[in-house]
Amino acid sequence: MNTSSLSLPGGTWTLGDLTVTRFGYGAMQLAGPGVMGPPADRDGALTVLREAAGLGITHIDTAGAYGPRITNRLIREALHPYPGALHIVTKVGAVRDRQGGWPPARRPEELRRAVQENLQDLGLDALDVVNLRLGDAQGPRPGSLAEPFEALAELRRQGLIRHLGVSNATAEQVAEAQTIAPIVCVQNMYNLAHRQDDELIDDLAGKGIAYVPFFPLGGFTPLQSAVLTAVAARLETGPMPVALAWLLRRSPNILLIPGTSSVAHLRENVAGAGITLPDEELAELDRIGR
Ligand SMILES: NC(=O)c1ccc[n+]([C@@H]2O[C@H](COP(=O)([O-])OP(=O)(O)OC[C@H]3O[C@@H](n4cnc5c(N)ncnc54)[C@H](OP(=O)(O)O)[C@@H]3O)[C@@H](O)[C@H]2O)c1
Repeated sequence: MNTSSLSLPGGTWTLGDLTVTRFGYGAMQLAGPGVMGPPADRDGALTVLREAAGLGITHIDTAGAYGPRITNRLIREALHPYPGALHIVTKVGAVRDRQGGWPPARRPEELRRAVQENLQDLGLDALDVVNLRLGDAQGPRPGSLAEPFEALAELRRQGLIRHLGVSNATAEQVAEAQTIAPIVCVQNMYNLAHRQDDELIDDLAGKGIAYVPFFPLGGFTPLQSAVLTAVAARLETGPMPVALAWLLRRSPNILLIPGTSSVAHLRENVAGAGITLPDEELAELDRIGR
């Protein structure tokens, strides 16, 4: 199916000088179980990526740590040579250990290696957007990001990276990053039920910086809420599209990167996220995370 990006819910947003659809795609779920190794259904993973591009999605979120190095290679196999409008956003700052953990790897030489691996696996000369992933699996952790972020700013000056962002970051780290180099996005955990970044989202909106919620559908344990289910039933759509419609409505600087390994779910999410939420339903959804 080929549709214009204009028909995707939410329209577009500009990351620096790169226009992307606000409705993007998060590729993490395409690797094997626990985001380790190859997917059980390799052809299915390639089909989902091609369907995302075919639907007009121009923002794909990934990381070298997915697989590791599996998801990026799937993206390249499915979509290279990339359509001119497609932009791939990646992350550096964590690697994988044998147990499937995500230990930090933020020393300058580790970041340089990660950028080189992303370039190689994606088949690119420059990466559109690179997020520095901070914190750990439990969430953001306080502390200066100066050394790793300056290393990425240097790679940007060298032309290997077009734009920078931060992920899993505190508001203080977001502010510190901006004293070192411009940022175009912040990627933190946020969804209907986890509203810890409300103030940060509004602050970034005022600065024209995108806020990209990870786990927009709840992540490995998708959102379960009787209110969400009831609202979705009343609006004659599914709970996941309603959760996405709520995010699009929450702030114009929110970009969606929902994950799925299913073409049917991808289509359901794209079709349903454009629904207009009536005031009463919006108020009910707002109360879920408060
Ligand atoms: N910066 C970071 O530290 C960080 C951390 C985590 C994730 N991320 C990024 O954020 C993206 C999104 O996160 P995520 O994929 O982990 O979580 P998510 O988007 O919140 O949820 C994905 C889950 O929702 C299910 N799902 C999707 N659409 C559905 C539908 N219509 N009906 C029922 N279930 C549905 C998927 O299952 P099916 O496969 O069965 O559809 C999958 O299990 C990732 O792909 C990754 O790029 C970043």
